[in-house]
Amino acid sequence: MRYATLGRIPAKRHVQVHSNGAASPLLVEEVMGYEGFSGNESILLHLQSPCRLERIGGFRRIEREEWVPDAHVHRLCDTNPVEAGGDPVASRRLLMWNGDIEVSIAKPTSELDGFYRNGEGDEVVYIHRGRGVVRTVFGRVPFRERDYVVIPRGTTHAWELPDGEEQFWVCFHTPGEIETPNRYRNRYGQLLEHSPFSQRDFRPPVELETFDDSGEFPVTVRVRDGFQDYLLDRHPFDVVGWDGYVWPYTFNADDFEPRAGRFHLPPPAHQTFQGPNFVICTFAPRMLDWDPEAVTLPYHHSNIQSEEVMFYAAGDYAAREGVDVGCITLHPSGLPHGPQPGAVEKALGKKSTDELAVMWDTFRPLRLAALWQEIDKPEYAYSWNPEKAGAAAPG
Ligand SMILES: [Fe+2]
Repeated sequence: MRYATLGRIPAKRHVQVHSNGAASPLLVEEVMGYEGFSGNESILLHLQSPCRLERIGGFRRIEREEWVPDAHVHRLCDTNPVEAGGDPVASRRLLMWNGDIEVSIAKPTSELDGFYRNGEGDEVVYIHRGRGVVRTVFGRVPFRERDYVVIPRGTTHAWELPDGEEQFWVCFHTPGEIETPNRYRNRYGQLLEHSPFSQRDFRPPVELETFDDSGEFPVTVRVRDGFQDYLLDRHPFDVVGWDGYVWPYTFNADDFEPRAGRFHLPPPAHQTFQGPNFVICTFAPRMLDWDPEAVTLPYHHSNIQSEEVMFYAAGDYAAREGVDVGCITLHPSGLPHGPQPGAVEKALGKKSTDELAVMWDTFRPLRLAALWQEIDKPEYAYSWNPEKAGAAAPG
């Protein structure tokens, strides 16, 4: 990330700053940084100590219900029927996970009662449908359809959702860091000219909200694989200024500048983020491979060391029969996959594609949650054999 700042900060760090003139209380400086004091950091100036608690509430462990299918095959599910309901955290329904990533589907219908902070991981929320504002200790972050909302760990926030607006999100949590790919950056961290996006495409908080208010403010912190509740007697958004390299932001999938070649380019051309042992890619609408002899769909490939998961976000996905917007395919490690019979021939000569998909590849096996079983399409495993049309894989 780049340097950003909002509000009032002094010329030097770690100096005396008063809230309102020499007789007023000193502001409280908080350094929020990764990797001890060796990673990126921001400095926030609070009206009160961010440690101040009114009451310590309960702790709830996260329970994950696993579905272990009877057979290891390619899988397809449809997330459209997943029921809406709950607030932006409680509505998250876990779909899959491993030690590096958790992926949930969320369709919140109400706002949080209080505030939330992930104390053990970075979050990315892909906004398939919906809009609103993430209110954060760094300021307001408006979001809209096709945004990736990236929220660094430690960011106290709440979600402002307009009445009557449908929300349909794909949520990622990682104990690691969400970063732009190393190969897009120069040695100073700036995005290179060949990167499919630039610093301008990452939208930081636009407006700082500073409350000098007393009252009852519930805060839930995700930590140690559970949720710890607290009650504060001061509004947690009491920051008068901040600066640094750590802040929540949005990046819109329509700002991803797709790459195409004379012949087919592999998925790394679509990479958007990197995390520990996983990548997140954006397959954006783009020109197709333009050589008259080119095969415009992906070649069959054996992802012998990764699990490929794809969420179909918009458009017509030519390589996949029976896959609609809102569906997810899982092509697990150990099995080759490619376009279904006839798809390549049908796509020959096509000049462009309007598909939009979000893909995450993990380098360690994924476990499926019970939700997948509810929305599984077991006929997908046989879809490469026209003679087996409609046959179902063991569940
Ligand atoms: Fe693939």
